[in-house]
Amino acid sequence: MFKTLFYFLLACLFFSCSTKTEECKKNQINPNGDSELALVMRALYNNTLSIKSEYIKNIDSISNIKLNLNIIEDFTLNYEALNHAEPTDRDLRNNDIYKGFADIYINSSTEFLTNKYSKENYNLMVNNCIKCHEQFCLGTIDKIRKLHIR
Ligand code: HEC
Repeated sequence: MFKTLFYFLLACLFFSCSTKTEECKKNQINPNGDSELALVMRALYNNTLSIKSEYIKNIDSISNIKLNLNIIEDFTLNYEALNHAEPTDRDLRNNDIYKGFADIYINSSTEFLTNKYSKENYNLMVNNCIKCHEQFCLGTIDKIRKLHIR
């Protein structure tokens, strides 16, 4: 009896996961053009990539890293836009889940900027991009993982 229940639950879990993956695939092809939020995300990706390449250039003196003011300004504007840019999915902000993840990410970005751009804080910030993406299942996780500094 319990065994049957267990397999039933397992099947439910498996089924709901696979339908979730379907949604992700569909989400990647956006028939309505790019949303404001999608553009912000792409810009954030590029900002983070610029920060990473500054690190790589300064590999011998990570503690002396100096980020270009334009990068910082653009990056700050973009991460602040996470909480108000118009998303593809109009229901995205119907509950507090998205905002919760956005705030955690924004806090880690502020922390990165105020605490001497440490590599640990940088990677923490990238992990927080991924955590939100895991929740919303958006299929860009492999690409975001490449932003990590090893
Ligand atoms: C709070 C949740 C959240 C956080 C944090 C987050 N994302 Fe996203 N991301 C989303 C959502 C939701 C979308 C879909 C946007 C849309 O289509 O409106 C998205 C879309 C994207 C896309 C695809 C954009 C396109 O071309 O359609 C990329 C790339 C991306 N995010 C990268 C990042 C990176 C890099 C970070 C961290 C610097 C990040 N995201 C942080 C939720 C998040």
